[in-house]
Amino acid sequence: MRIGSDEHKQRFCGQFIASHRQFDPAILPWPDLDDAALGRLRGIPFWQEVLYTERRAGAIVAAYAATIADPLMREAVSLQGFEEARHAELLRVMIHRYRIAADEPPLDEPINSDLRRAFVDFGYGECVDAFFGFGMFKIARRSGFLPEPLFEIFDMLMHEETRHIVFFINWMAWQQTARGYGARWLRAAIAAWYYSRAIGRLLGTLWCVRDANDRRDFSATQASVLLNGSHFRGFVQQCCAEHARRMAGFDYDLLLPRLLPTVAGVVLAGRRLPPSVA
Ligand SMILES: [Fe+2]
Ligand SMILES: [Fe+2]
Repeated sequence: MRIGSDEHKQRFCGQFIASHRQFDPAILPWPDLDDAALGRLRGIPFWQEVLYTERRAGAIVAAYAATIADPLMREAVSLQGFEEARHAELLRVMIHRYRIAADEPPLDEPINSDLRRAFVDFGYGECVDAFFGFGMFKIARRSGFLPEPLFEIFDMLMHEETRHIVFFINWMAWQQTARGYGARWLRAAIAAWYYSRAIGRLLGTLWCVRDANDRRDFSATQASVLLNGSHFRGFVQQCCAEHARRMAGFDYDLLLPRLLPTVAGVVLAGRRLPPSVA
């Protein structure tokens, strides 16, 4: 199968559409939580930020989908927009059920009027968020930070994000080829540029969350523990391992996001070198 071909498009759109799952966030098996678990859930400082991100994601993806002429591609991107909006709804249900302090400020951050460009920026942002989110999710789950039934619900969301980034990486290569930017080195250079923008945005968000956390005087959270330098190596290892595990379930003919695990692998290998070599 040639990347950028019609067969490629049929394959990655077809897999994405066929793997969509129907569920209603309101009737998922939300567990009852004791006071300790409720305290830990409410103490996580980024629910409002995550809800905002999912609401904005739904708006960006739906707006871009409406501009697509190709019926199959429009169906696939519209489906992603639906899933992003459902992520926001799932968070709303959780926030309401467990009485978590999180507002819904208006989506006043302007969306790039070039909707294709907005979708590209959003897609690389998802690749970065998913890579680090995989590791954080695994560590939090293994530590029993919250009851397992909650992790099972959020695993559905993580699986959908995995499908989104696989779809995005293939869409990106497919449409770059159609526009004459299909050479591997060029795709890699463009990806590196977008990844660096996405990492910059993630660092900005973490900075805002940290500031808000300080202002609200929350106790130390799992996130801040993960970001502690002494845990960083194990955290990145978990990100790589979880990324590989979650990607293993996809059609081996499709492209998969590789840049972040590759860079992380190089960094981890470098840190294993003895001081005299490093
Ligand atoms: Fe999402
Ligand atoms: Fe997504």
